[in-house]
Amino acid sequence: MTQLQASDVPGMGRRQFMNLVMFGSLTGVALGALYPVVSYFIPPKPGGGGGGTTAKDALGNDVTASGWLASHPEGDRSLVQGLKGDPTYLLVKAEGTLAGFGINAVCTHLGCVVPWNPGKNRFICPCHGSQYDDNGKVVRGPAPLSLALAHVEDGNDVVFLKPWKETDFRTGDSPWWV
Ligand code: FES
Repeated sequence: MTQLQASDVPGMGRRQFMNLVMFGSLTGVALGALYPVVSYFIPPKPGGGGGGTTAKDALGNDVTASGWLASHPEGDRSLVQGLKGDPTYLLVKAEGTLAGFGINAVCTHLGCVVPWNPGKNRFICPCHGSQYDDNGKVVRGPAPLSLALAHVEDGNDVVFLKPWKETDFRTGDSPWWV
């Protein structure tokens, strides 16, 4: 009966061979263990045919552009449930269409939901008096930053919200919320 020798593995000593086997299995175990950690940090693909998060109304129904515009006049700023469930304002433009951006209603001071005040043409926080202009740019503290933006898109009449990662057009700065 013949026994296996290290020399049976061509071009490789027994120790080298065993090191390779051990390294391979350890790498496999490490990658397997890391997978849940890595996948935790990769955001899930948003649902919806338009590739974003569907805006929801107060009843949890999908918001349609036609339905929204039929019931919200020019200049209107009303809330939908947006990205990560955050209350987000949709803006109706003068020409009766939705603006391409929505405004996150969470105050950048301590997180109160900021109502729209049409008489003053501002968002005014009831908690500590911060004020934001009609596009959500901060104009009075103590809030340190403008309200966050989200893209608003119409996909077959369904309104989608997508993260705004580009320059904040109101300030020219990088978006602080990304
Ligand atoms: S939470 Fe809005 S001003 Fe303080």
